[in-house]
Amino acid sequence: MALINKAIFPVAGLGTRFLPATKAQPKEMLPVVDKPLIQYAVEEAYAAGIRQMIFVNGRNKRAIPDHFDTAFELETELENANKRELLSLVRSIKPDDMECIYIRQPKAMGLGHAVLCAQCVVVNEPFAVLLADDLMVGKPPVLKQMVDQFAEWQASILAVQEVPAEHTKRYGIVAGSAISDRLMDLTHMVEKPAPEEAPSRLGVAGRYILTPGVFREIATQPRGVGGEIQLTDGIAALMRREKVFAYRYEGKRYDCGSKEGFLQANVELALQHPELGASFREYLQALDF
Ligand code: UTP
Repeated sequence: MALINKAIFPVAGLGTRFLPATKAQPKEMLPVVDKPLIQYAVEEAYAAGIRQMIFVNGRNKRAIPDHFDTAFELETELENANKRELLSLVRSIKPDDMECIYIRQPKAMGLGHAVLCAQCVVVNEPFAVLLADDLMVGKPPVLKQMVDQFAEWQASILAVQEVPAEHTKRYGIVAGSAISDRLMDLTHMVEKPAPEEAPSRLGVAGRYILTPGVFREIATQPRGVGGEIQLTDGIAALMRREKVFAYRYEGKRYDCGSKEGFLQANVELALQHPELGASFREYLQALDF
């Protein structure tokens, strides 16, 4: 069995920055080019060897389970029309050896609370958390890079990247001592600090590998920034008991929870798309800015 076999996908946020698109569907179902964000994240977890995908759903919960379910009518239609390629595309969304588990977060009480909702399934093994609105492009995929680090260190690992000073208020910011060019042994972590209070400019991106000890820490945290139960506070408490590392990943992150990041992802991934890329490039070049 793989070192990390379970991934939690918190998909119960309100997605207010993307209203009205997110009024009746989770933002993780927004498509970048031709695939919903959640599918990119699930594919990344699968590529890292993970086979149990745990979705923490909120209201508007149906679209994601529907996406990963067998679409009997659609498959029959495609079969009858002999559309083989489309049929295998639809079937490949959920490989046979992948298991999907759905849990309900009754109220959007914060990311930490969403992760805690999955404790009953994860129980006592290390696990990954992927925030699908952070679309990560890396070779090898970012979570695979982190699983490789976990194999060496057997401790919690957070994906980080350098962020501009004026953006520290958007991230969990970490500090600690460097172990290598890409790895840092953490001593503290603060959620969304003002630039003058930020302990560094290393911001946490939406990929984590966590040890199960974090559940106890999350459960005992008071409500944090914004009145929410913050994952950051749970991880900061975990640091007092166990080693926690930050890993500066190789790759690019698109913040698809914001309209700007979402548009950038669409443009850049469309340019790289095997069928659309060339004609889309021509279209952009012909645009009169
Ligand atoms: P965000 O901080 O982006 O919040 O959540 P949000 O509610 O989704 O979006 P905005 O800010 O209102 O536009 C980060 C991740 O945590 C999940 C979200 O679905 C997203 O993947 N989340 C957040 C939950 O699952 N439950 C929560 O209570 C809060």
